[in-house]
Amino acid sequence: MPHRDRYLFVCTNRREEGNPKGSCAQKGSEEIVKRLKGALLERGLAKTVRACSSGCIDLCEVGVSIVLEPDHVVYGNVTLEDVDAIADGVAKGEIVERLVVPRPAPASGAKKG
Ligand code: FES
Repeated sequence: MPHRDRYLFVCTNRREEGNPKGSCAQKGSEEIVKRLKGALLERGLAKTVRACSSGCIDLCEVGVSIVLEPDHVVYGNVTLEDVDAIADGVAKGEIVERLVVPRPAPASGAKKG
């Protein structure tokens, strides 16, 4: 199977009930990845874009979180209602700006690479 042009890594980590960090699975991410796969298929994108279940990507506070690669963009607080917008976005090569979790500014003194 060839490499895809884009990957959507959907966190489906599940923590035990009562864990203060919560988890994306508890917020519905398992259904989101399933629907996302279907939405990509409907748009004829199955061979170019892949939605994958992922472990915790350490953005639990904005879960359900999805990392879009190679764009290196994080979507946060994703719900089922956002699935079509995400699929349409990858179809057009566009980012769904309203879902983007901004990257923190680099720490002062950090080296530029
Ligand atoms: S549980 Fe989903 S980012 Fe941590």
